[in-house]
Amino acid sequence: MCLPASRHGVQFIQDAAGVLRYSAPMPDDLSPGPVPEIPHHSAPGGETAAGSRSGEGVASDEQRNAADSSTEPFALDSSDITFEALDLDPYPVFAALQARESVSWIPRLGMWFVTHRRDVLAVLRDTTTYSTVSDHSLIGDTFGSQMLSSESALHRRYKSHCNGPFNATAVRRQLEVAIAPHIESLLARFPRSGSCDLKRMFATPLSVVTICSTLGVPAELSGRIIAWYQEFRAALSNFRRDPVVRERGHAAAADFRRTLRPLLATFDLDDSDKSLLGHLARPHADRLSDEEILSNALIVLFGGIETTESAILNCAWSLLAHPAQLAQVRDEPALLLPNAVDEGMRWESAVQSCTRFATTDAVIGSARVRAGDTVQCMLGAANRDPAHFDEPHRYDARRANAADHLSFGSGVHFCLGTAMARGEITLALTHLLKDFPELTLADPIASAPRGFEFRAPASLVVKLRGASIHSRHRGEHLA
Ligand code: HEM
Repeated sequence: MCLPASRHGVQFIQDAAGVLRYSAPMPDDLSPGPVPEIPHHSAPGGETAAGSRSGEGVASDEQRNAADSSTEPFALDSSDITFEALDLDPYPVFAALQARESVSWIPRLGMWFVTHRRDVLAVLRDTTTYSTVSDHSLIGDTFGSQMLSSESALHRRYKSHCNGPFNATAVRRQLEVAIAPHIESLLARFPRSGSCDLKRMFATPLSVVTICSTLGVPAELSGRIIAWYQEFRAALSNFRRDPVVRERGHAAAADFRRTLRPLLATFDLDDSDKSLLGHLARPHADRLSDEEILSNALIVLFGGIETTESAILNCAWSLLAHPAQLAQVRDEPALLLPNAVDEGMRWESAVQSCTRFATTDAVIGSARVRAGDTVQCMLGAANRDPAHFDEPHRYDARRANAADHLSFGSGVHFCLGTAMARGEITLALTHLLKDFPELTLADPIASAPRGFEFRAPASLVVKLRGASIHSRHRGEHLA
């Protein structure tokens, strides 16, 4: 079945199994436009789901996984690869690149794509040859000097100062004291039947409030945090170097600093404040400057909001799209849910790449990289590398090596918030599945994850058939 071509002229073919494939070269027009309504290649149910607006006819997991696992490499000219194509469905492109070579130069994007898991690990672990420091770094340009745009001693200094609120004890406390009660109160506000958007009503407010309390920012600022966040998101994906987007990112960062700088002085100077800003603002001989504190707060804020929000949604979507596996997870959540979370993160990584800059001429596989080149480590590709994951396009909540995904990066820049994010996602899904025992996707295809740099559903509308346990506790009759 041939689906409509996108506005950018990208032509996709959906085969009988529902797998989406490229069929024509990309157009010259790179101007941004609305994302076309094209099903995800591995959207649940293939033709059945595509033909079912309500998603009632979702295919069995067996049919579903037949579609998931049949993403075959196809002939691809690297000069055809555009942001738009990757935005919709990067996996056929990654599979084609992986089959052809270990590292690929992508002319239209002006960067190398590292797609094999072993090469991604090698690059991320070699901070001598591949650095986060560069005049071209969008993160450095937007946030100034902080841990994700620094290396060696400066990076160690920043990261060690910020570690406190992210160690196991602090995370356990944060999950119990702040995150669990917030999850419960958000779920209690869900409608009792009908449908609701898990992004708007659950994942966004949960991740924003969590990051506010982790940072020590008053919850009243959450509206401004979201507004700043939107500007940062655009600035950090501004690979086209649009000056207006850049300027807006700078303005948001300046506003963040102006607003939070006075707060630093007000933090309790005893040991009672467990927040990151409280921890960093406490005076001691090696204290970071206010400017450094705020720059590192910016990367924590940015690193913690959409990543966690997207991972909650991607993991929920992946599970709901596989009803038979979901039923097994529901039967044994304590045993299976943590692995399902890792598999969801592997299958649809919220962060699709880590950017590095070559400090010197170097060789990766058969590629000769020049000093100064941008080397994009494609986490989504590494997570589906057939050399490491059997049937990599198949979602398998019981996959034995699901936790080998690289969605939190690797090496010295390995995600600071890993324990908190894993705990938050698992807790969020545990409560969601418990409270809503008959949850289903309203439209599996419309809610499929999208995005080149950050990947997640634009919205995730679910049907809340039956009663939530909150309503049952209130003794209310539900439709
Ligand atoms: C599922 C959620 C998350 C995902 C998928 C994720 C992903 C990542 C990745 C891939 C990196 C490595 C970037 C690179 O090497 O270029 C990273 C680093 C980082 N993440 Fe996360 N992250 C998540 C949650 C969080 C949370 C909750 C926080 C903080 C509250 C956080 C803070 C950071 C920071 C500060 C860094 C930079 C670490 C460094 O440079 O040493 N992340 N994250």
